[in-house]
Amino acid sequence: MVKICCLGAGYVGGPTMAVIAVKCPDVEVVVVDISTARIDAWNSDTLPIYEPGLDDVVRRCRGRNLFFSTDVEKHVDEADIVFVSVNTPTKTRGLGAGKAADLTYWESAARMIAGVARSDKVVVEKSTVPVKTAEAIEKILNHNGRDGVGFQILSNPEFLAEGTAIQDLFSPDRVLIGGRETPGGRRAVQALKDVYARWVPEERILTTNLWSAELSKLAANAFLAQRISSVNAMSALCEATGADVAEVAYAVGKDSRIGAKFLNASVGFGGSCFQKDILNLVYICECNGLPEVANYWKQVIKINDYQKSRFVNRVVSSMFNTVAGKKIAVLGFAFKKDTGDTRETPAIDVCKGLLGDKAKVSIYDPQVTEDQIQRDLSMSKFDWDHPVHLQPMSPTAIKQVFVAWDAYEAAKDAHGICILTEWDEFKNLDYARIYGSMQKPAFVFDGRNVVDSEKLREIGFIVYSIGKPLDAWLKDMPVVA
Ligand code: NAD
Ligand code: UDX
Repeated sequence: MVKICCLGAGYVGGPTMAVIAVKCPDVEVVVVDISTARIDAWNSDTLPIYEPGLDDVVRRCRGRNLFFSTDVEKHVDEADIVFVSVNTPTKTRGLGAGKAADLTYWESAARMIAGVARSDKVVVEKSTVPVKTAEAIEKILNHNGRDGVGFQILSNPEFLAEGTAIQDLFSPDRVLIGGRETPGGRRAVQALKDVYARWVPEERILTTNLWSAELSKLAANAFLAQRISSVNAMSALCEATGADVAEVAYAVGKDSRIGAKFLNASVGFGGSCFQKDILNLVYICECNGLPEVANYWKQVIKINDYQKSRFVNRVVSSMFNTVAGKKIAVLGFAFKKDTGDTRETPAIDVCKGLLGDKAKVSIYDPQVTEDQIQRDLSMSKFDWDHPVHLQPMSPTAIKQVFVAWDAYEAAKDAHGICILTEWDEFKNLDYARIYGSMQKPAFVFDGRNVVDSEKLREIGFIVYSIGKPLDAWLKDMPVVA
């Protein structure tokens, strides 16, 4: 029986290993983590992450061939294949602060593997890492491992998106495996290929050299984020000219060379990956003497920051240039629908912008807890462009944050509503009821273009939708940058 161990029971390690376990009943999969709380949650009825379909997959194989444990060393030693899916955040201090990936967790995992392994291991980079990390990891493993114990390192980046992780893992566009072009390297690639081949068609399993696999992951995320910044940049121009960004995106996406997906204008992209991975790419370009290439990619993040502040400015300028003391309802706090994840969510910047203008902010999200919202808004923001931690929100501002149980409670007595996550339930709210409970004039600022703006206007709302022709009211209240 092949034994797999995965270090890191997070958004990637947990779902990925659960799918391997369900598709390969004869493979024993143990997911380990240094966080006891996380492992306890994986072993309970309330999993630590919300992901559609995940509960069912875990229920089918947990205790059969899927296990969650904190006994990291034991399970690493017993495994044939060790996946490393630990976090690789942006460095906030020291050399490369603000851009470089912090590989502290990765390095300590590699040193631990080298220290405990008593038999040969295939070590798989599942985390997103800078290109050439495999070389550093190989050195750590080979210099610290026991005599006679061999290591093969593979790069097998993960392409799942949150909210659709199970679907993406069951039916991936591609699985990418990079390895050394040596007999040992090829055997390791084949061993991992054999695992995926249980459910992924052969032609979708791509094999490359190590560096191509590592760089492809950063490149894919940069290309995806660049599409969003491109359409968001167009959304600003649409508002200025009377064009409709949805129509423009549709017409552009009809070109089969461009394609229709991932062209939805929004308040900005969020999530733990896009910004972090582009900054990582920027740093690698700078380290390789390519400042022009670095600046090109940096602009994707700058446009994203611009889109978030543009949204806040629109809210404030529409309401007579002040939101001080006004209640603003925020519908949606997660960085996208169908997840409770708030890492780098645009809602943090928008809420902080509104609080900075002294608004009272009442937030409702179906999957994000009050604790999480308070933590996110209390934390000081890290400015990647100047690598400094900005001042945290003042305690007085934080006191102006309220978390509501539903959208109706959040909107009661509010002057405006900001829709920041595209949860399906926001499409079908009783907006006439909401309008009746709000201060007038009542505004809706749709940061995801999910509501039917015409219907809302008929009810009486003043509606702002990203990149759409502006209401007469909004035209009369221009945004001052
Ligand atoms: P996460 O923070 O949810 O999980 C990482 C886990 O690793 C944590 O639970 C942490 O306690 C654990 N950990 C850290 N050091 C450890 C060690 N030495 N031994 C055992 N466990 C350890 O992170 P995530 O979102 O799952 O991301 C993991 C990696 O996958 C990152 O590199 C990320 O860029 C990449 N990735 C993430 C996504 C995504 O959608 N979240 C998608 C593709 C790739
Ligand atoms: C992303 C990549 O899609 C995935 O392949 C990679 O493995 C991890 O990073 P994720 O961040 O989970 O996945 O979600 P994704 O669907 O890519 O959305 C990222 C952000 O972009 C969200 O805030 C989303 O709302 C936003 N987005 C997405 C848009 O604003 N417009 C779009 O058209 C698509």
